[in-house]
Amino acid sequence: MTHKAVHRKILEYQGAFLVRISFTTPNHHTALKGASDEKVIVLLSVAIFATAVFAFAAGDAKPELSPAQKIMQARVAWLAAINKNLDAKKFEAVTKDANELAAQTKKVGENLPNPLGKELTLAISALAKDISVAATKKDGGKIKVKLGEIKGKCGECHAKIRDKK
Ligand code: HEC
Repeated sequence: MTHKAVHRKILEYQGAFLVRISFTTPNHHTALKGASDEKVIVLLSVAIFATAVFAFAAGDAKPELSPAQKIMQARVAWLAAINKNLDAKKFEAVTKDANELAAQTKKVGENLPNPLGKELTLAISALAKDISVAATKKDGGKIKVKLGEIKGKCGECHAKIRDKK
């Protein structure tokens, strides 16, 4: 059952409970001894409203990313930052992000069992390292070429490995 479905069920039960106690249970049988029917209904309504708000928030929340998705999202973010900082000629920032991309792809690539996946991921790491070096030389042209090559490797793995599953 999804989060949303669970919360919907809780709401249904609470609703049924409210209807039952407000129509069938006299005051002195409720947990809230001495409270009037109106008070009980108000309290339960507040509880139901709070649950509804929570259910809405839970249903709205983005689903947890898988470890692979987190790795991929980090790559996209580094590439986007490198592109942006290249345009702004912030070469130090380019070096930093390229080094992080290189380190992550090296670590991930070394542990990949699929030979093609490993080759492509380690190739991205080497290209990211090239970008890092080119950035220290403020060689924007070279960075652009290497960025294009990286995107080619990402696409190759998506086409040949990811989308085949
Ligand atoms: C070795 C293979 C491989 C390489 C190389 C690779 N990817 Fe992926 N990528 C995958 C797989 C597999 C998935 C599916 C992951 C999942 O849904 O669990 C994926 C998913 C993605 C997604 C979708 C993530 C999401 O939140 O659903 C993005 C974006 C992405 N990759 C970007 C990149 C970028 C950018 C690069 C290069 C810097 C790259 N990938 C390199 C295999 C690869």
